[in-house]
Amino acid sequence: MNDFNPPVTVALTGASGAQYGLRLIDVLVAAGHEVWVMISKAAHMVIATETDLSLPAQPKRLVEALTEKSGAKPGQIRCFGREDWMAPVASGSGAPSAMVICPCSTGTLSAVATGASNNLIERAADVAIKERRTLVMVPRESPFSPIHLEHMLALSRLGVVILPAAPGFYHRPERIEDLIDFVVARILNQLDIPHRLVPRWGEKDETASSNIESDNNTEE
Ligand SMILES: Cc1cc2nc3c(=O)[nH]c(=O)nc-3n(C[C@H](O)[C@H](O)[C@H](O)COP(=O)(O)O)c2cc1C
Repeated sequence: MNDFNPPVTVALTGASGAQYGLRLIDVLVAAGHEVWVMISKAAHMVIATETDLSLPAQPKRLVEALTEKSGAKPGQIRCFGREDWMAPVASGSGAPSAMVICPCSTGTLSAVATGASNNLIERAADVAIKERRTLVMVPRESPFSPIHLEHMLALSRLGVVILPAAPGFYHRPERIEDLIDFVVARILNQLDIPHRLVPRWGEKDETASSNIESDNNTEE
């Protein structure tokens, strides 16, 4: 037995925005959660393109690399390979109660919407849907085609949370990290995990809202 908070499955697929997924892993680790990670082949290419990281594909070495990067405790991060059908995420009896695919490629979006289950990420998502567990998908493409939109609608109707990587600007981001945290905060909200990454709406006197004169502003 360990004393970590409940595990969360985090899958990174080959859409742009690898930093969202990598930051999510770090924040979940800092919040004391066990994190079960899967990274698709295309996601490794995106990570190498968009960051200075070079993460190994082999699960054991990936655990070591992510543990060092995030400051996780031994055993806090587990990684599974593309066709590791014996992994607990492949079955309803072993999978965590929450899974996030971040970022989510349109390829994986399509595979999950049609139940393809051709790799462990797709199978784990299929399990989450059949078991009525929390599944958050963070697609990124621009523009979206009718194919993408129809898949998102079908998944949303099944209870999947479609949370596009579309940061807002009303918190006055100054750094790229602020934009990343905006999206990661939205994901944590869906998982009911408390955080202080971005103030919740109405939590503080926003500069922008205090600049707007309205009947609701009772201060002189
Ligand atoms: C640098 C790079 C950026 C990419 N960006 C996107 C993207 O934003 N959205 C997307 O759906 N696919 C994107 N792709 C294409 C996917 O990686 C590709 O369709 C792949 O087959 C997805 O496989 P996966 O879902 O197994 O990760 C990108 C690929 C690369 C190499």
